[in-house]
Amino acid sequence: MTGAPGSRVVAIDGPAGSGKSTVARAVADALGVDVLDTGAMYRAVTIKVLDAGIDPTDAEAVTQVAEGADIVLTDVVELDGRDVTDEIRSPAVNAAVSTVSAHPGVRRVLIAQQRKWAEMHGGGVAEGRDMGAVVFPDAPLKVFLTASPDERARRRSGDETAASIAQRDGRDVPSTLEPTADAFVLDTTGMSVAEVVAAIVGRLPEARRADLLGESQSESESA
Ligand code: DC
Repeated sequence: MTGAPGSRVVAIDGPAGSGKSTVARAVADALGVDVLDTGAMYRAVTIKVLDAGIDPTDAEAVTQVAEGADIVLTDVVELDGRDVTDEIRSPAVNAAVSTVSAHPGVRRVLIAQQRKWAEMHGGGVAEGRDMGAVVFPDAPLKVFLTASPDERARRRSGDETAASIAQRDGRDVPSTLEPTADAFVLDTTGMSVAEVVAAIVGRLPEARRADLLGESQSESESA
């Protein structure tokens, strides 16, 4: 692959409960590419911080934890060889993840890993808060999902309440979370996943689509 790591990335951003994770996975399936859940990475670091009994506000200690965390994202989320897929959604993690992810050192470490992921995977769908604005500014398609507060609370997996989500929104660092000027902003309230996916895939201009899929796949498709 040539060019910047984001040159074959579909960036999907939006607040908690906007439907990002489900939509990102479905778009990746539709395109036959891999998906990266960057929120899971911040959540995994948070588990390690909590397990170590470290104060989540201690920037230096938390950054060190991030540097030493071995996070592997496949169908499951692994932290230092342990499956933490369910644990990353716990109330304790929900409560601390905004604080952990606010440290610039933590962001530096995880953003480097996210760019590396895109390089290793030849692009894909990357989902989070700052994908289009910071991590992959050169992504050919940037999507910004929104939904009404009620709908976001309904969609949220687990038992996180609307109040907890609103609190987390207020604390999250990319809380100035706003779509970049070149983003496709989509209010998904009342839309099915299939409708959202169709809208996103429909935004991929043909040339860019070939770019994202890689030449071999687009050739075999047209053959
Ligand atoms: O998408 P999520 O709810 O799983 O994200 C969990 C937290 O991680 C969220 O409260 C803010 C943080 N996060 C971030 O700061 N940057 C990202 N790219 C993704 C998530």
